[in-house]
Amino acid sequence: MDIRFEEAEARFEGRTVLHPLTLSLSERRIGIIGLNGSGKTTFARMINGLVTPSAGHVVVNGFDTVKHGEKVRAESGFIFQNPQNQIILPILKEDIALGLKSRKLSRQQSDAAVDAVLDRFGISHLATRRAHELSGGELQLAALASVLVTEPDILIMDEPTNQLDLKNRELVRRTIEGLGENIIVISHDLELVEDFDRMLLFHEGRLAADGPPADTIRRYRELAR
Ligand SMILES: Nc1ncnc2c1ncn2[C@@H]1O[C@H](COP(=O)(O)OP(=O)(O)O)[C@@H](O)[C@H]1O
Ligand SMILES: [Mg+2]
Repeated sequence: MDIRFEEAEARFEGRTVLHPLTLSLSERRIGIIGLNGSGKTTFARMINGLVTPSAGHVVVNGFDTVKHGEKVRAESGFIFQNPQNQIILPILKEDIALGLKSRKLSRQQSDAAVDAVLDRFGISHLATRRAHELSGGELQLAALASVLVTEPDILIMDEPTNQLDLKNRELVRRTIEGLGENIIVISHDLELVEDFDRMLLFHEGRLAADGPPADTIRRYRELAR
């Protein structure tokens, strides 16, 4: 994984939401923390080109997010804050197959890939269930399956344990721990990210700390006082 922000800035309706930022990310597990509205989601969406910089550049595994948006989105999968919004088709296995459409696989190859990813997350029994009937924990695993079936190099998750009870939070935590992909996780659940390789803190649209989780969390506690 090689993510580079080069003086990248995000502005919405004339308001600067992320001030020009230069940094590179290559660690396998990166946490992002900060107060509500500090710019975390905007930063994460810039990595997979959902938000394009109003100035500067974002380059992901060698691809500029503006010039090569499609390639960037193949490199990086994004799990939204509300996984309900991730699953588009009513039946889970159809939704997961949708992600493979551009691959031009045979029906058998596509079915096999869908079965394999459902099995990977232990949710084969949910294959023909309606997405809107799934529990919060099941939805989060379903969203993971629908994104990882396309085998992105980088997985970005926006507050994956936000709406979950303790049991499902543990399930998602263990699942994330077992992932081989590079992962970037935005979280208010500090336990989820405290043993990651690197942690970024955003504050009022600026990077306020960047380093080992313990140091970044200490800075966050000071800012939140
Ligand atoms: N599409 C948008 N249009 C206008 N303002 C936005 C948009 N997305 C985010 N913002 C604003 O940018 C700021 C940072 O938002 P966000 O990145 O979602 O913060 P966080 O994820 O840290 O809560 C907020 O003030 C938010 O209202
Ligand atoms: Mg957010």
